[in-house]
Amino acid sequence: MIEDWNRIERPQLVARRMLEGFADLPVVDCGPISHGHGRLRAIYGMTTTESSFKSILGFGILLLAYEAGLLRPGQTVIESTSGSLGVSLALAGKILGNPIELVTDPNIPVVTRRKIELLGARLHIVSGPHPTGGTQQSRVELLRALMAAQPDMFWTDQNDSDLNPAVYRRWLVPSVEPKLDVDWIDAAIFVVGTGGHFVGLSEMLRGHGIPCYVADRVGSATFGGRPGPSVLRGIGNMNTVPKVIGSNLHLVEDVYYATDEDAAEGVQELAQRGIYAGGTSGIAFKCASRLVAETSARNILTFFPDRGDLYGDLFLGASPGAELVRAAA
Ligand SMILES: Cc1ncc(COP(=O)(O)O)c(C=O)c1O
Repeated sequence: MIEDWNRIERPQLVARRMLEGFADLPVVDCGPISHGHGRLRAIYGMTTTESSFKSILGFGILLLAYEAGLLRPGQTVIESTSGSLGVSLALAGKILGNPIELVTDPNIPVVTRRKIELLGARLHIVSGPHPTGGTQQSRVELLRALMAAQPDMFWTDQNDSDLNPAVYRRWLVPSVEPKLDVDWIDAAIFVVGTGGHFVGLSEMLRGHGIPCYVADRVGSATFGGRPGPSVLRGIGNMNTVPKVIGSNLHLVEDVYYATDEDAAEGVQELAQRGIYAGGTSGIAFKCASRLVAETSARNILTFFPDRGDLYGDLFLGASPGAELVRAAA
């Protein structure tokens, strides 16, 4: 329990308890997919207090870094983020007593930006995308410059750190595995940014003989595609292949690709079922349908990373300003 936010007794115990709560995600039946030929269940990553599954990673990566002796009390932590991990690190750092510096880009959702500011983390916003590597590349270049100026900072390095999948192995898998009826699942499909949740969940599912597929975005170079921009945040990579996924390609059965317009369609189809999720969940939903149409798998498990509220009506097409959906029409 927290009695005083300015002086938290036993911060690591408090953080661990919060993390256990975040990792206790529900598994929900989403109904038929692919014209009734298949059925979808999803692990709901958006049910945390911060509305994104990255709450698990931010807390977990700092706690594991303490355990490994990589992080000291009071040491500043730095990370490049599209937003959601930043919120989680900001809260985890506030509880653990580690100042947080975050590098992001101007497209960060206003809600996410305000959440980070109110938690007291410091935001560095790059001016725009790198000509070939997009905003991810400009963010990493600014991060390296900040680290050169202040070398004592600890970089969580979500793309390349073994601690990323280790967090899901340690906290997510034991909490969701008992809720999955593994005999029901024919195949699983997950979106990939760093690959952290894909790796943690796929190791467990493949242990039950379940093939695991990736849903990636068109314009992501993670699995050899040609790099290109997207309105989606958190999925795909334009400038790098994160070591987390790159060193675990043996877990990947195959890769399905979807566009921003597919994401919007997926978000709207989910909203028609009362599920309000973000764009990467829309991609997971559309690719799960395709998996049923193109393989013999019928019962599919997926993972929805975050809530739709973060993106306003970008994917819902509710207002005349919803450019993406107009383009998709
Ligand atoms: C909205 C969203 N979807 C998907 C992902 C990808 O998750 P992972 O980094 O575990 O591959 C992220 C990661 O930041 C995300 O924020």
